[in-house]
Amino acid sequence: MRNFFLILSLLLVIFSCKKDEDSFYIDSTDTVVFKNNLSDYGIYTDQMNLLIPTEEYQLYEIASPLFTNYAKKQRLIKLPPNTKMTKIDDDNPEFPEETIIVKTFYYYLDNRNPDLGTNIIETRVLIKKEGQWNAATYVWNDAQTDAVLENNGANKYVEWVDANGNIKSVTYEVPTKQECTICHQIANEIEPIGPKLRNMNVDVIRDNEIVNQLTYFQSMGLLENFDHNIIGKIPDYFDTTMPLEDRGRAYLEMNCAHCHNPSGLPKAANIGFDFRYATPFSQTRILEYNTKIDRVIKDVYMPWIGTTILDEEGYSVVSEYLNSL
Ligand code: HEC
Ligand code: HEC
Repeated sequence: MRNFFLILSLLLVIFSCKKDEDSFYIDSTDTVVFKNNLSDYGIYTDQMNLLIPTEEYQLYEIASPLFTNYAKKQRLIKLPPNTKMTKIDDDNPEFPEETIIVKTFYYYLDNRNPDLGTNIIETRVLIKKEGQWNAATYVWNDAQTDAVLENNGANKYVEWVDANGNIKSVTYEVPTKQECTICHQIANEIEPIGPKLRNMNVDVIRDNEIVNQLTYFQSMGLLENFDHNIIGKIPDYFDTTMPLEDRGRAYLEMNCAHCHNPSGLPKAANIGFDFRYATPFSQTRILEYNTKIDRVIKDVYMPWIGTTILDEEGYSVVSEYLNSL
């Protein structure tokens, strides 16, 4: 009998370890059926590889991006007809049912001259249905005529010429469907990360005029009315006119905070950092760990997934900030 309990408790220990490994991912069942081809959604006009969206899809920009192996990104959002995003606070707005958010990753063949063409790698899609977000990605074919649903991840060797004329290359990693949920989890649910109101509260050029993006959305009927001045603002971390402190915090928000916040990936949240921009400095633990934070970025140990080479320009901003503390 005693042995039985011993074996039972051993099994329980093994079982709970297994459970811990699994808990990187959210195990939700999709509430949508993802179409097989990207072309099935009618996101783009004409030739798909020009990435010109149809009228239903609205371009949006965010103040500071996540670094993904130097890929360029196009972000689009589609709301069902006659629906709006509504404000809760500075964070994610409430998105209507059946909102679709689309993010495409591509490289210019030559950054000195974008007209020479693009190499489009993948298009990631988030769809809200029955109150739940669903995530999937589409990998573009070599002919760049369409992209196909890919739930199992993929590696793509990519080469491009950078702004200084140097040839750069990387093995780009398309995440698996499960891996989407590592970064896109808040309190064990899939959530969008970028389109927080404070992140979209930037000036953009629309119809040849400079407008506040939130005001522009309101004029298009996509966002409920309020004065954009009541919403906080995240700076562009490359904007040298902004204080170094704000730029350093913006870098950590966009590249680290989706895992390192109290409701993020448990294995990261448990460490106790809170890298969100709005968190008071004394609660972030940045000061306590500044040399370690610097080192994990420099060694490309962090961000934990999603990038395999050093973000040289971004690192120089965040490193200057960390050294100034
Ligand atoms: C390494 C972390 C990470 C992984 C893995 C990841 N994402 Fe994201 N994703 C982000 C961050 C951070 C943003 C916001 C910043 C940006 O757009 O540059 C984002 C933005 C997006 C957006 C635009 C809307 C939004 O939430 O900002 C979509 C759509 C998206 N991701 C879908 C996916 C899908 C689908 C997968 C899996 C195939 C995936 N992501 C995997 C971190 C990740
Ligand atoms: C995709 C989720 C994710 C992202 C994004 C991420 N981290 Fe982490 N981080 C983790 C996990 C999980 C651990 C704990 C496991 C480990 O250390 O391997 C961790 C551990 C750490 C540690 C402790 C390392 C140690 O040796 O104790 C530091 C410091 C850290 N992260 C900093 C960062 C910084 C800075 C960024 C942004 C540049 C970042 N992380 C982005 C998931 C993430």
